[in-house]
Amino acid sequence: MTDLLRPWRAADLPALLDAVRAGDDLPRQLDLPPAPDDDAVAARLRSHLLRWERTAYVLAVTADDRPVGSVALTQVERTHGTAWVSYWTAPAARGRGLTTAAVATAARWALDVLGLERLELGHRVNNPASCRVATRAGFVAEGVERAKLRYDGVRYDVETHARLATDPVPELPTLLVEAPAATP
Ligand SMILES: CC(C)(COP(=O)(O)OP(=O)(O)OC[C@H]1O[C@@H](n2cnc3c(N)ncnc32)[C@H](O)[C@@H]1OP(=O)(O)O)[C@@H](O)C(=O)NCCC(=O)NCCS
Repeated sequence: MTDLLRPWRAADLPALLDAVRAGDDLPRQLDLPPAPDDDAVAARLRSHLLRWERTAYVLAVTADDRPVGSVALTQVERTHGTAWVSYWTAPAARGRGLTTAAVATAARWALDVLGLERLELGHRVNNPASCRVATRAGFVAEGVERAKLRYDGVRYDVETHARLATDPVPELPTLLVEAPAATP
């Protein structure tokens, strides 16, 4: 099986629909209503996942050429060399280390190719799997921001992590990155 990272494509909509239908935690992750219709998912693909611009680069994680997850670098800020990292994986592809390897690979790409120096992310404190992914991908926990996020009217504390260009590179499998040149 070949796993790689590449930009999302409009033709990925069927795979995205499958992922969103299979994972009841994915509509929230993609800022969609529960059980979104096809049009809503297609609109989100266009507005969020298809971004490949100076401030946002979103990478599909593919297994055997089918997208099964996503790692996004958003809020790319050139003055301070920072970006925000977020990720999700379809349920069928979870639990085999793919997300951890994908996040570590995307981080390396952002540090080396985009020339960023500090990558940040945050997870709800009740999401231990995401904490594990972040930690293993080299993102050091930095603290808890109280009641930072609101989902369905409930506010959640969020633990933030960051990986610096000078941090040790974790020993993990690396995915191939097939991406157009990105302007540093
Ligand atoms: C969080 C998510 C990305 C994890 O994806 P995944 O493919 O299972 O991740 P990996 O297989 O690379 O690693 C998961 C790690 O979490 C651990 N884990 C899983 N469930 C856990 C739990 N309940 N408590 C503690 N650790 C847990 C696994 O054992 C594994 O760690 P290990 O490699 O040391 O064994 C996935 O569940 C997801 O997409 N969730 C919905 C969206 C989301 O929460 N995104 C993150 C937002 S911050």
